[in-house]
Amino acid sequence: MAEITIPKHDKNRIFSGIQPSGDLHLGNYLGALHQFVDLQNDDQNECIYCVVDMHAITVPQDPKMLRKRIYDLTALYLACGVDPKKSILFVQSEVPAHAELGWIMTCSSYTGELSRMTQFKSKSQGRESVPSGLFVYPTLMAADILLYDADEVPVGTDQTQHIELTRDLANRINNTRGETFILPKGRYLKEGARIMALDDPSKKMSKSAPNPMSRISLMDDEKTVKKAIMRATTDSDGEIRFDPENKPGVSNLMNIYSVLSGESLDSLESMYRGKGYGDFKKDLVSVVNGALQPIRTRFEEIRESSELIDILEDGAEKASAIANPVLARVKERFGMGLGTK
Ligand code: AMP
Ligand code: TRP
Repeated sequence: MAEITIPKHDKNRIFSGIQPSGDLHLGNYLGALHQFVDLQNDDQNECIYCVVDMHAITVPQDPKMLRKRIYDLTALYLACGVDPKKSILFVQSEVPAHAELGWIMTCSSYTGELSRMTQFKSKSQGRESVPSGLFVYPTLMAADILLYDADEVPVGTDQTQHIELTRDLANRINNTRGETFILPKGRYLKEGARIMALDDPSKKMSKSAPNPMSRISLMDDEKTVKKAIMRATTDSDGEIRFDPENKPGVSNLMNIYSVLSGESLDSLESMYRGKGYGDFKKDLVSVVNGALQPIRTRFEEIRESSELIDILEDGAEKASAIANPVLARVKERFGMGLGTK
């Protein structure tokens, strides 16, 4: 069998993905997109960002809607500042190596560890029949990451368990078959890592919550943003103080304010000492609208342009050039296929 080595890459390689499965909200922006752009703008990093349509079909999708959302999400990545000259941006199913390594990762995982995943438990709850794809979802995510020899994966803290599983699977294969994978690390933005629902700060802000006032969609107009913030759950003591345990609603709003404005939580506390929630919320409305307005404008321009397809085709080509040799390396380790003669 051929000698196997993991080729070194110079830069810190970053990989992340977002599902094209609904309107993105402020949690996605602060937990993911905002970080993606900062990372891309640091010269030491080499960034690869993916629209994970194969993950989206783990639950039923209307085909027309899914296709629309693939382009919407691509336009949103670009509107938030992902630059195709600096980063690779592509659609998962356009690079078949994801499906192939996904299967190998599935075969390297145990049903016991997959049934412990909290995302699986919550997404399968209440369904009469649970799609198998939901169960093996994390093995495909592991393949996404390992296929690029990624060093770091920027995500919200809701993905910690999946990142740990990715490391466990990579370790297992490295230990049983010899060095095959680089062990990736999760990279979590401290304040923005978990944005909570506006109507119930004990739950995370999510695309699927039935109450639209629980989230701020990145495409919401100014009035809707105002309505959602002014109605957000707080508490009755009237003090603007960061204390996630006792004041989860206020702390969540402070988090959002802090990450978007660059003001520290301490300085927000002093700025609003002696002031009420009304003043604080009014200012937060301006901060959020100030951050979202330019994104909305750029999104409309980019969504209409014919460049989107070219960007994604180019991205898939560049992604394949990295992914295919890694897949070949793994198949060699497993003795699959014809190998090199
Ligand atoms: P998803 O919408 O589940 O595909 O998530 C896309 C990205 O947004 C992932 O990196 C998530 O960790 C992140 N994310 C989703 N919801 C939140 C939230 N409420 N707070 C922070 N990050 C989030
Ligand atoms: N599971 C992630 C989420 O729901 C999306 C995702 C799929 C992902 N593949 C990935 C994130 C690879 C980071 C890296 O948010």
